[in-house]
Amino acid sequence: MKFFIDTADIDDIRELAGTGMVDGVTTNPSLVAKTGRPFADTIAEICAIVPGPISAEVTATDADGMIAEGRKLAQIADNVAVKVPLTVDGLRACKTLSDESTMVNVTLCFSAAQAILAAKAGATFVSPFVGRLDDTGTDGMGLISDIVEIYANYPEFKTEVLVASIRHPMHVVEAARLGAEVVTIPPKILGQLYNHPLTDKGLAAFLADWEKTGQTIL
Ligand code: E4P
Repeated sequence: MKFFIDTADIDDIRELAGTGMVDGVTTNPSLVAKTGRPFADTIAEICAIVPGPISAEVTATDADGMIAEGRKLAQIADNVAVKVPLTVDGLRACKTLSDESTMVNVTLCFSAAQAILAAKAGATFVSPFVGRLDDTGTDGMGLISDIVEIYANYPEFKTEVLVASIRHPMHVVEAARLGAEVVTIPPKILGQLYNHPLTDKGLAAFLADWEKTGQTIL
């Protein structure tokens, strides 16, 4: 299972890359806006820090515009994955860019039907947004289950399921249980994955007992 981190914050990315847990990064226009930094520079910097796929989203809404923007973004680095929305134009752009061997992440997926279209368009990744579905009272992880099951029926579908809009550690655990290839995790939630009170309690007890021995390892 691959872990991407869902942020455009360079400091966070640098720090988390050091954990050895980060296989890629996803950004979106809202995350880039939060940084207040120039888009292309930010993507170039992220690509230099993390060798895996780095999603950079187009902002044109017509296919030709998305293709032009996608080609420009793909020139930033070999590991750019151009992110396009799941619209008719987005999927046309996906097909063209995929045919040019550019990685494409089809984003804003909210149904199994949309995920089938993304796979047929040759997407490298499809991003179903589980948290935003949960927010509307719909079962986000149910969608992941449907997509994983459907894709397994068609070995010719090479699209990886990239679980997005993660809100808590159990989303990550459920995505793993269902066999999704990728989860993109906000930095705060990646930190939460490490935590368990019994780990802290157990470590404190071990260290207290060790101290009583008066020994050192080095
Ligand atoms: C991923 O590619 C998306 O940008 C992201 O997961 C959206 O998450 P949000 O619903 O928390 O904004």
